[in-house]
Amino acid sequence: MLNNFWYAVEFSQEIGAQPTLLRLFDRPIVLFRDSSGLLHALDNVCPHRGAALAQGKVEGDCLVCPYHGWQFDGDGTCVKIPANLPGASIPKRAIVQTYPIREKDGWVWLFFGDSARSETVAIPDVPLVGDETLRSIQGDFSWRVNYERAMDNGLDFAHAPFVHAGAFGNPDEPQVEALEITTDPWGAQATVMLKANSPKGIWKLLMRQKPEPVKTRTGFMLPNLTFLEVSLPFGRLVIWTAHVPIDATTTVSKWMNFRSFFTGAWADGDARKRTLKIFEQDRPIVEGQRPQALPQSYDQEIFVAADALQVKFREMRDRALGTDQ
Ligand code: FES
Ligand SMILES: [Fe+2]
Repeated sequence: MLNNFWYAVEFSQEIGAQPTLLRLFDRPIVLFRDSSGLLHALDNVCPHRGAALAQGKVEGDCLVCPYHGWQFDGDGTCVKIPANLPGASIPKRAIVQTYPIREKDGWVWLFFGDSARSETVAIPDVPLVGDETLRSIQGDFSWRVNYERAMDNGLDFAHAPFVHAGAFGNPDEPQVEALEITTDPWGAQATVMLKANSPKGIWKLLMRQKPEPVKTRTGFMLPNLTFLEVSLPFGRLVIWTAHVPIDATTTVSKWMNFRSFFTGAWADGDARKRTLKIFEQDRPIVEGQRPQALPQSYDQEIFVAADALQVKFREMRDRALGTDQ
């Protein structure tokens, strides 16, 4: 896993007044908001008898354990033991490990690694949230895959005509033009003209004749984000996805979908259906890949020109692993 990165783990608006359980790299973590709305992340294990703190509740600035009511503040320090008589002290070891956590661009970001380094590592910018010219919806897609395989799939141009024929990519013209890749501190991206299929459903309203090739931009930001931007003749469609690593073979891909056309709520259901359909088309393929984790060595795979962005992903991942392990 990539250490010392901020992982996008949840939509900000999903964290309400009561504790939320998150599993990240097989580690249960509880998130809660204190009375000022500030988020905190603690290990989900009470140091008293090991109860799951996420089953408790929030009171004021504290998370209250469901078993014996011990109260923990946002720093993970126990500040109250209800069974104690007045004057009894709180054991020094009554502390829960915490994780640095922030909110930005509509996402909740959790720092995984050496907490002391969290101040010096920036959180990636994920633009578009709050852009009033765009309509946005969001959702989750849970699958039995390693998150690196899920990201790799999001960067893969050549599979579109085979896996998504009918949605985008034309099986009669599967060639991928030479990819020009641009990099930034967090990742890389490439733009290609994808041959389009004739539109179906309500999209027909927007396009009368045979479609032109569609400008498609895709890329990643380490550690766990990918995006896809499709420039259609009638507007833009952008999907940002955080691939949340639940464990080695489970990922929840949390997607935010932005569109500049059909900006009324009436088209939300259709936009959701289209997004989920794309994931469902990918599901059997990616869940069937072996090994389940993305290979660490290049000679276990074969790369052709169309895979250049995926090569970049591996290079940047390996560089991050090299400096941070
Ligand atoms: S197990 Fe949490 S208070 Fe006892
Ligand atoms: Fe796909």
